[in-house]
Amino acid sequence: MDTIDWQLDKNQASTLYKQIIEKIKDKIASGEWPPGTKIPSQRSMSDMLKVNRSTINTALNELIADGLLEAAVGSGTRVANNSWSVLASSAALWTPYTHRGLQQPNLSTIQKINTYEFDDRVIRLGTGELSPEFYPKELMQDTLRSIGENITSLGYEEPLGLYPLREELCRYLARLQIAATPASLLIVSGGLQALQLISLGLLNRSSTLYLERPSYLFSLNLFQSAGIALRGLSMDNEGISPEALQAVPATASRCLYTIPCFQNPTGTTMTAKRRTELYDLCAAKRLPIIEDDVYRELWFDSPPPLPVKTLDKQGLVLYIGSFSKALSPGLRLGWITGPEPVISRLADIKNQIDYGSSSLSQWAVHRLLASGAFYHHVDSLRGKLLARRTVCLQILEQYFADIATWTVPQGGFYVWLTLKKPVSLNRLFYTALDNGLLLNPGNLYDKQASQNLRISYAYARLDDLATGLHRLAELIKTYRL
Ligand SMILES: Cc1ncc(COP(=O)(O)O)c(C=O)c1O
Repeated sequence: MDTIDWQLDKNQASTLYKQIIEKIKDKIASGEWPPGTKIPSQRSMSDMLKVNRSTINTALNELIADGLLEAAVGSGTRVANNSWSVLASSAALWTPYTHRGLQQPNLSTIQKINTYEFDDRVIRLGTGELSPEFYPKELMQDTLRSIGENITSLGYEEPLGLYPLREELCRYLARLQIAATPASLLIVSGGLQALQLISLGLLNRSSTLYLERPSYLFSLNLFQSAGIALRGLSMDNEGISPEALQAVPATASRCLYTIPCFQNPTGTTMTAKRRTELYDLCAAKRLPIIEDDVYRELWFDSPPPLPVKTLDKQGLVLYIGSFSKALSPGLRLGWITGPEPVISRLADIKNQIDYGSSSLSQWAVHRLLASGAFYHHVDSLRGKLLARRTVCLQILEQYFADIATWTVPQGGFYVWLTLKKPVSLNRLFYTALDNGLLLNPGNLYDKQASQNLRISYAYARLDDLATGLHRLAELIKTYRL
């Protein structure tokens, strides 16, 4: 190879010898100059590129020093055999950094779930999201059109979020008998962000978070990454067991996290009596409560008991809600309310992280609340979800009666399935995936829940749910996994 098909640009900021280095690297990286290729002699390069030989010499020496070229006496300069790995080495330079950050990676099963949720060939049997068929398309079209006509700017919002939306949310909370004011309410990008703000702003490495076992929070590495210890408390069908709560030690930095309505993943709803017991115990222990109520609106026959927050006259409870489960998670919109100093601390952190949640989403949800359309939407959604739950329970009865037991939720998305015989959940997960089924194994939510699966009737189409659950039962029976 003795010609060169490029020229140097003397007007470029980059020096000539650096331009030569980059051009040669491009040739090697693109495969045009594979390992072993003899490159033009220094003399011909200097003629073709119209630069001094010393410039060529400097560039080639640098490439030789980097291991991309090798010079052999008598046979000129060639592309080195290990040039691919050398070129890749600048990317490899980052590899150790990707293990260094504070945030731990997702559990590997969660990573798999996150990938396969976007593969149309699989049936999602555990997804914690409403089916696309529940997206109120016309309502959202009208809402987005009308806010589009009225918005005059899309600037950064106040640190606590769009004021008119906070006012509407206070009205919504008043219906639940929670007395919140716009100053004690922060708009967040989903309930998950509220939890992240708490982990960053209110707890530290010596803190312990007590929570239901199993719980949604065990499936995330959010608190663990901040060095916060998670301690599971046992549950019965009324919620967290008072005995377990009684045993929580009186250490300095600790909090209780609870999902009292249609809990993720068990579907359990805490009774009114248990809520009072829980609040009284926590008040006596000075144990602050984080109440995550993102599923509240999805009740079937009657509304769930009032939030624990309604019992709170001391500012013990932080109350979290979200529009993800009852409307659309893509809006990324939720809220947290509690004592003003706590809320302004969280708002200050949120401001440092993202300068506020999407104004467009905030205006859209404000419109849906102010017009009452949100309330009509959830009214009709409840009936449709109930119909799905009923069908799901029938399917379970048909295919799982001899191999499992399950909870019967009064709202929300989830049935907690307990297999009668032990299985390898890992093998079941991958065998199911090979058979076109995506599962949420119980051990994501409690390491010891090795015979459980979280089944969701909210996402998959009903015919897919029937096909999928039938196939799953067959797999469990056939393979004795
Ligand atoms: C109990 C609970 N809290 C919070 C979230 C986070 O939801 P989002 O951030 O979309 O509001 C979820 C999602 O699955 C959940 O189940």
